[in-house]
Amino acid sequence: MSQKLWSGRFEKNTDNLAHEFNKSLDFDFKLYKYDIAGSIAHCTMLSECKIIEKAESDKIIAELKAIEKDIDSGKLTKNDAEDIHMFIEGELIKRIGETGKKLHTARSRNDQVATDFRMYIKADINCIKELLKALIDKLIVISEENLNTIMCGYTHLQKAQPTTLAHHLTAYCEMFLRDYERFSDCFKRVNILPLGICALAGTTYPINRKRVAELLGFDGVTNNSIDGVSDRDFVAEFLFCCSMVSMHLSRFCEEIILWSTDEFKFIKIDDAFSTGSSIMPQKRNPDIAELIRGKTGRIYGNLFNILTVLKSLPLAYNKDMQEDKISVFDSEETIINSLLVFTKMLSSITFNKEVLKNSAYSGFTNATEVADYLVKKGVPFRSAHEITGKLVLYAEKSNKKLEELTLADYKKHSDIFKEDIFGAIDIINAVNNRKLEGGPSESSVKKSIENIKIKLKKQ
Ligand code: ARG
Repeated sequence: MSQKLWSGRFEKNTDNLAHEFNKSLDFDFKLYKYDIAGSIAHCTMLSECKIIEKAESDKIIAELKAIEKDIDSGKLTKNDAEDIHMFIEGELIKRIGETGKKLHTARSRNDQVATDFRMYIKADINCIKELLKALIDKLIVISEENLNTIMCGYTHLQKAQPTTLAHHLTAYCEMFLRDYERFSDCFKRVNILPLGICALAGTTYPINRKRVAELLGFDGVTNNSIDGVSDRDFVAEFLFCCSMVSMHLSRFCEEIILWSTDEFKFIKIDDAFSTGSSIMPQKRNPDIAELIRGKTGRIYGNLFNILTVLKSLPLAYNKDMQEDKISVFDSEETIINSLLVFTKMLSSITFNKEVLKNSAYSGFTNATEVADYLVKKGVPFRSAHEITGKLVLYAEKSNKKLEELTLADYKKHSDIFKEDIFGAIDIINAVNNRKLEGGPSESSVKKSIENIKIKLKKQ
């Protein structure tokens, strides 16, 4: 085991097993680019503030860049350093000796790791936002092609009222748009720089934290040095944002799975996104949608992990916090892959418009129209509901749809019914007369889509 950079006050080496247990390099190696960027900005500031010489800073920065190149090319690989911070600093000292030892002036690993991790999560957020945007764009394209594709809308998974495929799919656009906005909002809180607050109480050197923030593209600096090193709210918030995306994807996948069944036949998932069975030759299984639905469990688990790690942690830094990274790396990768494959699978789906349309023409989906017809003729809604309920029962017993009953049948239930009832219960009219904001009519859905596009542009 190489000598620790903090070994001065120790009389013994760390036990091998303890070292292996303590070390995080195996997973935090991923942070190397951010660790180096943070060090370069810190070093630039140290020299600008005359805490180290310009020549020393130049030498350190040049070598940090060389180290980054060597890691990029695979020439420099992991060793037995405790973590990524010790790895980079150790390598620097190995290469340029005494000058390299100056880099850690006015800095601690506590503010360093919080800075690296914030930079890492900022990049993740930008990437996930791009993928969410691509998904919303795809959903908008499908919706615009299906503004008049009638389908049944459900509550309790029972037939409820007629709507359109565009209306149904743009409901998902709204969810993913909220996710998009949630990540943008989360970004604001991630984008605050802890570097310079050192272990917990800052430093007496005349450092310029705002300058480092500017160099690294942060909006500002943390306001309390104890909070700055103890805070992992941004991790929990990021994992919560991932959990919401995952939950939305899972709901969508559930419908895709259901809709692709022989019972529904609303859609066909392309062969390229379906799988077969090792025993049943006829099978086409929606594995991809099922897996995305299933992965929600790990993503929620990662959120619960960080919340549990943070619960009861005293201020300020505690090594427990090292556990924050695996959760983020796992959720980030899972959500990115899920979004990528989901959007591709969605593009492969064919919608069976005839079956979708027929779904709205059974199950008395126009019963509310009958009640509303009566209300418009002066009947109080509760009475209209009662009359219509009786009418539905009558139709069900006669094995007829509401539009198949005769005017005489209607009149048996109320004298108010006239010939115009048949226009009122027409399924297409039922959709297109719902012109309210957020409603299913073509004009309403077009307006909703416009609003989504505007909000996406604003972010
Ligand atoms: N590897 C540590 C982590 O991920 C870095 C910070 C270590 N700080 C310390 N005081 N031991 O949290």
